Amino acid sequence: MEIALARNAEDAAAQVADVILARLKAKPDLVLGLATGSTPIGVYRRLRDAHARGEVSFARVRTFNLDEYLDLPADHPQSYRTFMREHLFQGLDLPPENVHFPPTEGRDLLRRCEEYEARIVECGGIDVQLLGIGRNGHIGFNEPTSSLASRTRVKTLTERTLEDNARFYGPGERPPVLAVTMGIGTILDAREVLLQAIGPKKAQAVRSMVEGPVSSFFPASALQLHRRVTAYLDPEAASLLTMIAYYRRTRAQDEELRRAGRL
Ligand code: GLP
Repeated sequence: MEIALARNAEDAAAQVADVILARLKAKPDLVLGLATGSTPIGVYRRLRDAHARGEVSFARVRTFNLDEYLDLPADHPQSYRTFMREHLFQGLDLPPENVHFPPTEGRDLLRRCEEYEARIVECGGIDVQLLGIGRNGHIGFNEPTSSLASRTRVKTLTERTLEDNARFYGPGERPPVLAVTMGIGTILDAREVLLQAIGPKKAQAVRSMVEGPVSSFFPASALQLHRRVTAYLDPEAASLLTMIAYYRRTRAQDEELRRAGRL
């Protein structure tokens, strides 16, 4: 796993956005895997700004969101479809038919989850997958003990995730306890993974992901099995890493080799 130690949250967002924009310029029909949560908001703002300046078009891009709550209507203020519309899609020239979410309403969910997977394959696979991380190590909604080979499916949310999400719901509201998420296997199939973690609450999770054992009990650790993952961290999220000086040196040296056209 490559560790990118950013100066702060803004710097991390700028670095991630720059990678996505570079990939998009190289491949205008890029297939993007998208994440929700507070972490990617700065990245999405930068993508919208780059589009507004006329630097890039999303007209041929295809997107696949990681997850969505079961039975939460698309227009609910807390649905991930609302989140994506507000933070990214409404500022872009992305055709609505190019946007994909896992199936969360109606019957026959497992078959439709398979269709979601098949649609990803039909589009040529995910080129760049954006990820955040939950405090319990979840990626998407792959909670602890998720199979490392899992594909898109229904997941029961843990108490800890429900607690983390409770702040988004009013006093009388019942937050969803089920979600449909891409599996860990689905995420590992992406060609490149960009993970962002920001703030002190993520420090322990980052340490387990980067330096802990690979375990389904800590799903983000499965990213150690992927050949092209970069974790973009602010100083607080990186604060519990034990080999931080080594990561800094590695990144600087890799960048030097890249600039010289040797990597
Ligand atoms: C949710 C999402 C995850 C996200 C996580 C962290 O659980 N399903 O994809 O990574 O929240 O959210 P935040 O970025 O707000 O810390």
